[in-house]
Amino acid sequence: MKKIIISLILFTSTISAQYTDITIVKEVKVKNKGVVISAHPLASEAGARILKMGGNAYDAIVATQYALAVVYPQAGNIGGGGFLVGVKNSGEKFSLDYRETAPSRASHDMYIDKSGKANTDLSQNGRLAVGVPGSVAGFFATLKYCKLPMEQLIQPAIDLAEKGFAITLQEADLLNSNKEIFERYNKTGIAFVKNVPWKTGDLLIQKELAETLKHIQKFGQKGFYEGKTAELIVAEMKKENGIISSEDLRNYKAVERKALEFDYKGNQIVSMPLPSSGGILLAQMLKMASYENLEKYQQNSARAVQIMVEAERRAYADRAEYMGDPDFIRDKTTYLISDEYLKNRWKSFSFTTATPSSAVGKIITQPKESTETTHISVIDKYGNAAAVTTTLNGLYGSKVVVSGAGFFLNNEMDDFSIKPGVPNMFGAVGGEANSVQPNKRMLSSMTPTIILKTGKPYMIVGTPGGTTIPTSVYQSIVNVIDFKLNANLSVNAPKFHHQWLPETVAFEKNFPETTIKDMEKLGYKAEQWGQIGRTEMILIDDEGNIHAVADGRGDDSVAVE
Ligand code: GLY
Repeated sequence: MKKIIISLILFTSTISAQYTDITIVKEVKVKNKGVVISAHPLASEAGARILKMGGNAYDAIVATQYALAVVYPQAGNIGGGGFLVGVKNSGEKFSLDYRETAPSRASHDMYIDKSGKANTDLSQNGRLAVGVPGSVAGFFATLKYCKLPMEQLIQPAIDLAEKGFAITLQEADLLNSNKEIFERYNKTGIAFVKNVPWKTGDLLIQKELAETLKHIQKFGQKGFYEGKTAELIVAEMKKENGIISSEDLRNYKAVERKALEFDYKGNQIVSMPLPSSGGILLAQMLKMASYENLEKYQQNSARAVQIMVEAERRAYADRAEYMGDPDFIRDKTTYLISDEYLKNRWKSFSFTTATPSSAVGKIITQPKESTETTHISVIDKYGNAAAVTTTLNGLYGSKVVVSGAGFFLNNEMDDFSIKPGVPNMFGAVGGEANSVQPNKRMLSSMTPTIILKTGKPYMIVGTPGGTTIPTSVYQSIVNVIDFKLNANLSVNAPKFHHQWLPETVAFEKNFPETTIKDMEKLGYKAEQWGQIGRTEMILIDDEGNIHAVADGRGDDSVAVE
């Protein structure tokens, strides 16, 4: 029988799962064992199995990503890109950038029509929206830190794709509600569409994807970027308006970058540098709020929220103006996160009223709520830590499935500023720093983060959510460090979000009403959103006790070695 069990109580160990018996574990406390948290229980378990087989945190995070590409096709991927932040037990810190790139035939005005208007449908849907995928190159780049061979790390995903797995209610609803758009962009049959509606417990079998994964298992990175899979991607492009060429695929490279590091109240924060804005925004927001001694106020009180919103406003204005692919722009990170700069930026803050966004920028627009992208947090029993955020950008990316290869392609081109001032799908606006250029990486908000205390991993955290990612990670961190909440309360506390433009502040639907009313009295325009973020947090105390919490907002789940 196919069973899906949701466990809300605290477990000290995992319950083993079959592909048809899915157990969602929300919270775990363990010691001397590795843990994996991801958006799907079967993916977390794939990672935990790799730990049991002698793998380390980096082995586990590769296996989990491959598995997510099968069991969480709305965001887990081999057709998208991501970022990894790692801290080894030796203290070595690193980050891997496997963000997509613009195809070599991309151009500055490729989404501008004859009348000068930006065509966001083209940047968000279909083949022209696709950036050159980076994930598989990223998995191979991670091997440098792994103990096990790729053949072994990819096997759980092959099994899941070949044998299928029982889908949850959320997954059935998502597949059903996207049926029409899947059919619009895929004229041949795909595994995600069937004649009768999907229901809880149905098996999702992905034979074509299994073959693609086997191909990568056999031929390595070339099994994706050259040969049959690459040919299928290029053939998919040619069906419509896609421009990715076989050279683009062959030339794709993951990049190892120096992780962004800064101190926050005696904790060492290690996060993602450009081309993600995430680490810079996090540093800016934490530092600016610290100038008001945020810890003096109560969590989610009007005073605390006002300080944090104003920090968000100033940070996101900088995002629009200064941030982009560091290989294409002058990288101002050191200046942007310096106290000298930020203290000056903070001078315009006042408790008496909201700062108008026009005081820190120019353009007004409307955002869209988003929960796409996905995050994985891992610690192993040796003390190695890994955080990955990975994405197709929108839900199921471009909605295009590579025919014969069985995986969704991203719509990451929309993360470029396709025309200065025109909002992307997250309502974010940008300027020249993030304009489209051939082979350039589009600016991201993904914020995989590891926090160290006295040199040892203390927190591993991240979330999906487009431009809400940095603000959710920011809140999850201050909830623990400043407001002294435990991991569960921190992750599941109602969140809010502000991003400079539009002026509005979004509050999750269960956010305290009194705070919202007090904010409105100060001139803030409140908006209610259903859900913000799906945070996966691991906290490790001084005695080595591990407290792992998967966000209650989805099917996210913890697995233990
Ligand atoms: N596509 C979401 C991000 O990279 O921030």
